[in-house]
Amino acid sequence: LERIVSAVLADASQNPATARTLPPAAFTSKEFYDLEVEKIFKREWLCIGHVSQVAKVGDYFTLDMFGELLLVVRAQDGVRVFSRVCLHRWAPIANGEGNAKAFSCPFHGWTYALDGQLMNAPFMDKREGFDPKSCRLPEVRAEIVESLGLIFITFSDRADSISDQLEDLPDFLKNFRLSELVQVQPAETDAPFNWKILLATGMEAYHHFIAHRETFERTHPTRLSWCENGRKAWTLCHAGAATEMPLTTELPLFPGLRDQEKKFLDLYHIFPMTRLVVYPDAVRFRVVIPDGPTRTRTRAIYLVRPEVAAQAELVKAAFAASQKFSEQAGREDYDASVMQQRGATSALASSGAFSPLEASLWHFAEYVRARIAAN
Ligand code: FES
Ligand SMILES: [Fe+2]
Repeated sequence: LERIVSAVLADASQNPATARTLPPAAFTSKEFYDLEVEKIFKREWLCIGHVSQVAKVGDYFTLDMFGELLLVVRAQDGVRVFSRVCLHRWAPIANGEGNAKAFSCPFHGWTYALDGQLMNAPFMDKREGFDPKSCRLPEVRAEIVESLGLIFITFSDRADSISDQLEDLPDFLKNFRLSELVQVQPAETDAPFNWKILLATGMEAYHHFIAHRETFERTHPTRLSWCENGRKAWTLCHAGAATEMPLTTELPLFPGLRDQEKKFLDLYHIFPMTRLVVYPDAVRFRVVIPDGPTRTRTRAIYLVRPEVAAQAELVKAAFAASQKFSEQAGREDYDASVMQQRGATSALASSGAFSPLEASLWHFAEYVRARIAAN
């Protein structure tokens, strides 16, 4: 592990001319993965959802990551995140998603209110001195960034408020009015490669002219892409559109966009684990959940205007029309990621030089290096 960490830190660079990838072992080693969990995922703010996933009181979804079984629920007083492991003998009190008035454990029926308070524990009145009022599900720190409608959590009680760390992200996304959008088309994936590979493949358009010759190169060619300067907690790669040809989802455009915003497909990476692909008509929101060094699950939704989501037929037709394109492009990205994971196992492989078109990946690599270097 020490050898991998020094290789990770050795290539740290503040200069694009010397920007290099992390070493291949950072994508294969179990020890390095465990260090990432400790220094990144157990310490940082993690963007895990959008407010439309818990729009009404009682709406909930569940999320499993890094050994924790979480429940994200809208209680009377706002969105809260709990461990959903029963306080009695640890059965999960909820699964999937839905709307509930309370959560009742399927094992012995202990029942919890939306705010995590134990309300009822059958037959426990026979136990002397047991007071349900003193029992409450462990809560995970959560913050909603209202201007973006995004839900963040952290397992750390030391992390500063996330809003301060996002800098000007809300300005960039202002015209898309993310907080008003609603979810459609939820999807899950499970992939046999490292979480950083999955994110990186979707964070640059450098590969479009080869790996996506028949798909994205036609709509968003490599030559029209460029990256913003990195920020502390996020980065952005613009993929410019080649033609006026219909974009991926073919829904009515968001109202009030600037001309430039109508022509870009913007790839945002909110560190460490969240990707927003911003089209002029929909936003693909993806949470990337590492599960070991070479396994990564993701959960994605599209965010669209509420008046568009209300037209179910329109939404269905738009996604059906673009399905062939997105399936093929998705397969191309999957294959590219598999190739990279395979090569990363080679002992003869070493870190590679980033092209300027991959500055977003360099920003991400520097973020990982800084977190790993921290005490
Ligand atoms: S484990 Fe939940 S009530 Fe027993
Ligand atoms: Fe791609």
